[in-house]
Amino acid sequence: MCGIVGVIGNRNATDILMQGLEKLEYRGYDSAGIFVTNEAGKSKLVKSVGRIEDLRDKLGIDVSGTAGIGHTRWATHGKPSVENAHPHTSASERFVLVHNGVIENFREIQAEYLSTDDFKGQTDTEIAVHLIGKFVEEDGLSVLEAFKKALSIIEGSYAFALMDTENPDMIYVAKNKSPLLIGLGEGYNMVCSDAMAMIRETSEFMEIHDKELVLVTKDNIAITDYQGNPINRASYTAELDLSDIGKGTYPFYMLKEIDEQPTVMRKLITTYANEDGSMKVAPEIVKAVQEADRIYVIAAGTSYNAGFGAKMMLEALTQTPVELGVASEWGYGMPLLSKKPFFIFLSQSGETADSRQVLVKVNELGLPSLTVTNVPGSTLSREATYTMLIGAGPEIAVASTKAYTGQIATLAFLAKAVGEADGLQAAYDFDLVKELSLVAQSIEATLSEKEMIAELVKKLLLETRNAFYIGRKQDYFVSMEASLKLKEISYVQCEGFAAGELKHGTISLIEKGVPVIALLSDPTVAAHTRGNIMEVVARGASTIVIAEESVSKPEDDIIVSNVHPYLSAISMVIPTQIIAYETSMQRGLDVDKPRNLAKAVTVE
Ligand code: F6R
Repeated sequence: MCGIVGVIGNRNATDILMQGLEKLEYRGYDSAGIFVTNEAGKSKLVKSVGRIEDLRDKLGIDVSGTAGIGHTRWATHGKPSVENAHPHTSASERFVLVHNGVIENFREIQAEYLSTDDFKGQTDTEIAVHLIGKFVEEDGLSVLEAFKKALSIIEGSYAFALMDTENPDMIYVAKNKSPLLIGLGEGYNMVCSDAMAMIRETSEFMEIHDKELVLVTKDNIAITDYQGNPINRASYTAELDLSDIGKGTYPFYMLKEIDEQPTVMRKLITTYANEDGSMKVAPEIVKAVQEADRIYVIAAGTSYNAGFGAKMMLEALTQTPVELGVASEWGYGMPLLSKKPFFIFLSQSGETADSRQVLVKVNELGLPSLTVTNVPGSTLSREATYTMLIGAGPEIAVASTKAYTGQIATLAFLAKAVGEADGLQAAYDFDLVKELSLVAQSIEATLSEKEMIAELVKKLLLETRNAFYIGRKQDYFVSMEASLKLKEISYVQCEGFAAGELKHGTISLIEKGVPVIALLSDPTVAAHTRGNIMEVVARGASTIVIAEESVSKPEDDIIVSNVHPYLSAISMVIPTQIIAYETSMQRGLDVDKPRNLAKAVTVE
């Protein structure tokens, strides 16, 4: 959360910072700011509440420079306001700092070192920059020594980019837990929260690891550990396609990403299957899963729901029990593990702090792990034993769609590869290439029903304050994801419920007009779910029935074409994505950037 960008040695610094912030806006968008300075030493700090376009409006024409730092914020300490927006300055305003993360001991630091200082806002970041300023201006340390001393005191997560207005030809950088990368240009260098935001300027990058300090000048990058030992690190070229991060002809990223799902499914077939239909999954990953007596899937939000969507298939094809762990809970209390656990981390961004803290523990225990992610080179990918990429292309809308379906499909290749390696007939019988092609077709068929779905939304979801999704077995797991999607972008309070559980208490919330959306794809439980639909209708609910063809009735509202039961969490979620998108659109909300949210959740 929060996006950082910095550049040094480029005449278009302001433009680069602003473009970078626009690309980073998915990380937080409640306020933003930039600090720019030119060769004559003239500098300017501009901050604004709201989106990057609001900051652009405030910039004016005289903000040009050759170096600077910028920030887009997702508030943790202090409400969104100009005072709390970054960059923050030291007491004398000599030092300027942007920060992503949470400083856990900021109150203690304030009490011990800065009790007489006045602060403009309430952020932990302002404490950090005051601390650095104090060490230089009151205690006589060099800037580097002061930065190091501050880093030795600060506890928590951070990516810092610091500038000294008296010596603006260097950016001081350090990170712990929060992501940050160096971008290498011709005669200039950059620092940024992610590669995508720098790709217009460079495709050459250098990683920074936790507890490393980097001095960035226009023609040099010097990395050391906190003790000052130099670290040599090779740069790498990232093959990122700038066109992937545009909206094309779409009004919103979310719609583009929903529509991309058939392509994602087909691309996964070429990534993970050979032409003869055999699996192309790295043998060492297959072997590691084969050796496990239990698979632990750790994730957050939509990725957690994707784990449930894949659970039944993973268990059936590998004959290994699968346990789901919600990352923000497991980081603080790992349950009793099996004797030979294997961990799978599901994460679109590969940067989720909650998931990472579990991975850190897993690594401390020396246990094997796999990250299934959409972002090559991301923290969770680098730190896990193995990685499988979803390859869905950048997902920019805050609400995750193609990553969810891509994660389940990727796990299908893993499950089949493991099952075949174990000689399990069920794995051989599951013709994944054929079945996933059918899923792609099923998605296309549902996508062609958008207008009809929009009409249903208009009738049932436009005014309501709350709603329910219900389903059994796989459809219950899909209802969890469906309700999360509706909540996050339309602000309708929605619960995903096991259809049979409703009558054990929650049915008391059903009254006239409450929308209940039922999902039915499994013939073994469809009749029971239909019974539950009757129960809520009898109490006044307005229903939408989404049924797979195999179990559908003529009066059902949305029919989803048949797919293999292992993959129904993919096909059944598509109408619910469209429902969420349409509800948000019709309510006039910001589909891609819902309030209070951010795409990469890099704080615990
Ligand atoms: C919901 C959503 C979030 C993320 C969650 C985990 O649409 O996007 O719930 O799924 O924050 O993020 P990743 O998958 O990047 O670890």
